[in-house]
Amino acid sequence: MKVNKAIFPAAGLGTRLLPITKSIPKEMLVLVDKPLIQYGVEECINAKINDIIIVTGRGKTAIEDYFDRSIEHEIMLKEKGKHNLLKSVNDISDRINLTYTRQKEALGLGHAILCAQNMVGEEPFAVVLSDDIIDSNVPVMKQMIDIYKNYRYSILAVQKVQDEDVSKYGIIQGKEIEKGLFKVEDLVEKPEINEAPSNLAIIGRYILMPDIFNFISKTKPGKGGEIQLTDAIKSLLSIQPVYALEFEGVRYDGGNKLDLLKAQIVYGLKNTEIRSGLIDFIKKLDFV
Ligand code: UTP
Repeated sequence: MKVNKAIFPAAGLGTRLLPITKSIPKEMLVLVDKPLIQYGVEECINAKINDIIIVTGRGKTAIEDYFDRSIEHEIMLKEKGKHNLLKSVNDISDRINLTYTRQKEALGLGHAILCAQNMVGEEPFAVVLSDDIIDSNVPVMKQMIDIYKNYRYSILAVQKVQDEDVSKYGIIQGKEIEKGLFKVEDLVEKPEINEAPSNLAIIGRYILMPDIFNFISKTKPGKGGEIQLTDAIKSLLSIQPVYALEFEGVRYDGGNKLDLLKAQIVYGLKNTEIRSGLIDFIKKLDFV
């Protein structure tokens, strides 16, 4: 069955980016001129996934406002004949079917996904954590859908991480069945390095079979007292195969200050409008 829907969990508290996340959701932080969440949505559109379900929480209304019309801007841009800007203001919302649901309490990623169960129904679906910024030649969700078309079961995006970072991620144990594609044998959430089965960490892109909902609803709070998606995927393994794709691309953790700044510089350098000004500026920095 084709993947038509994507869940965007965006109800986390963004603690690592306080104080900005007191009033600005981290999914709304900027990369050049668009919020992080828009890059994730564009990735889905590229993979022909047009039904977007955003799981929000308190203090996240900026996300809904962003995807709504902005009549004042539209009138002003029309009057001034700024048609390109007008297109950029409306384009994204016109290309997707958007629905929202609320996670009343940040009880973990697994729980956030469960909040969207009724909207997904009995179909395979994608999950995009838009604070995982991935710069790649082929958008990551497209890479995953291409694999899904052949394997028809859940696909996790994974990437090798340094030993010292293993304890921050869900880690897989798997058997490589084709280049960069693993059949998952086990998963561990945030293991210590001496207990980790590999360095392959799950990054914020998933394609999941709807059977996962049943397992999430039975999952007890795990590491950090949160209902962990990794624990539910581990249970899913008992009834069906799960695959992991070591994707092509560079990933930045948008929930981490340094990584967010690195991504802003890289995306700035790739933007033709500001590239040369940014290079000039960096060259003239005499304190580095
Ligand atoms: P993170 O753990 O990276 O986000 O969750 P966080 O909890 O907001 O950040 P810190 O750790 O406090 O700094 C990954 C994704 O899952 C969503 C987040 O919004 C983020 O996109 N999430 C997490 C939820 O939607 N609900 C939750 O209860 C937890």
